[in-house]
Amino acid sequence: MASLLRRKTIVEQPPERALARTLSWPHLVALGVGAIVGTGILTLIGVGADRAGPAVILSFVIAGAICACAALAYAEMATMIPASGSAYTYSYAVLGEVIAWVIGWSLILEYSLVVSTVAVGWSGYAAPLLTPFGFPAELTKGPALGGLMNVPAVFIIAVVAGLLMAGTRESATLNAVLVVIKMIALAVFVAIALPHFNGANLDPFMPFGFAKHVTDSGAERGVMAAAAIIFFAFYGFDAISTAAEETRNPGRDLAIGIVGSMMACIAIYMLVAVAAVGALSFTRFADSPEPLALILREIGRPGFATFLAVSAVVALPTVLLGFLFGQSRIFFVMARDGLLPEALAKVSRRGSPVRITLLTAVLVAIIAGVMPLDAIAALANAGTLAAFVAVCVCMLVMRRRAPDAPRTFRTPLAPLVGTIGVLGCIYLFFSLPHRTQEYFLLWNVAGLVLYFLYGRRRANAGVA
Ligand code: ALA
Repeated sequence: MASLLRRKTIVEQPPERALARTLSWPHLVALGVGAIVGTGILTLIGVGADRAGPAVILSFVIAGAICACAALAYAEMATMIPASGSAYTYSYAVLGEVIAWVIGWSLILEYSLVVSTVAVGWSGYAAPLLTPFGFPAELTKGPALGGLMNVPAVFIIAVVAGLLMAGTRESATLNAVLVVIKMIALAVFVAIALPHFNGANLDPFMPFGFAKHVTDSGAERGVMAAAAIIFFAFYGFDAISTAAEETRNPGRDLAIGIVGSMMACIAIYMLVAVAAVGALSFTRFADSPEPLALILREIGRPGFATFLAVSAVVALPTVLLGFLFGQSRIFFVMARDGLLPEALAKVSRRGSPVRITLLTAVLVAIIAGVMPLDAIAALANAGTLAAFVAVCVCMLVMRRRAPDAPRTFRTPLAPLVGTIGVLGCIYLFFSLPHRTQEYFLLWNVAGLVLYFLYGRRRANAGVA
């Protein structure tokens, strides 16, 4: 029994293995925004509007506020335990092995399915650029939407996985350029769409109510149902915590990086959401695979629509690169701890875990090829919400267990922020589609079977 609760001891890296401290807060904000801005704002805004109507604006506020609380807890834990593995590692050190397993297993789900989701979102913007050249429409969507297979989504996963296996890492300069492209594209959208704001498009504001409920047609609707899916748009800031060891002044810079990139995203997302629902009735873009481009076309600005689509196609692959890399890193840390087979996490001579990257890429490409966007995003969110709950709990527990331990970053109003983070994430989880909750449960039952048959006996992380 005690083994289920054993805790990992975090060993400090010796100075000769420490990374050079070259980054400061503007780099970290760019890193954060680069990983955060993606399919959530570009595509899921349509799914959210379908569930909440114009009140999707409120869904953005709720999801953003909950995510911001989790981000603060994350910043505190990342500076206390600057070791790779993010929420999995914090849980292992604070809450014990079996919870760490559940969180690690959830992170594998999150990171994999974010890759599938972003690839499908990428395809939504890439496909209309291809079809005029004769690319068959049935090869741009999965069977659930009347197609055969989403070939562009599979293609972009293959490209990104290939780059990773060849040893490519995200380059700070390229990331900064792409962040600027993404932000310009969103700013252009706001500048063009906002003057077409028509109050009538916001009336009625909340046609489907607040709490999640199932309508007569079987669809799950409400502001919270939309918030649970829009949540996807806000995460990705773990990318910043992984740079903790390379930051000049981690206490200050990490906090500014995490909070700053969240604030920047919340601000631009709110503007995009208001501009989108104000410019066109939500019913006309709700089920579009490229809602923002469609809005620009519908208001008579096709040139800007193409600019937006091209920007998305150019800039989204870095989100894929970040998450596919993160997935192999989580897997690697869990394998190093003995919980997963080390052979799978083996690193090639070029320094990349080829086997796990290939295995993940094949699985996520199959999912992206055939499954609809909202279903994949919802399951990715379930995994992320579990991890965020764990990080907030870790932060609260450490405040009690070791109140005087040095913290380079302290969450302001920690008990309040931590509690809102935990309860908010749980509320979002239960606002996800019922089927998603069942799949998540199944995933974790399968994971626990694996843990009891394999990982529990082989774990070698040591007891704190
Ligand atoms: N927040 C990231 C996105 O929206 C995962 O693509």
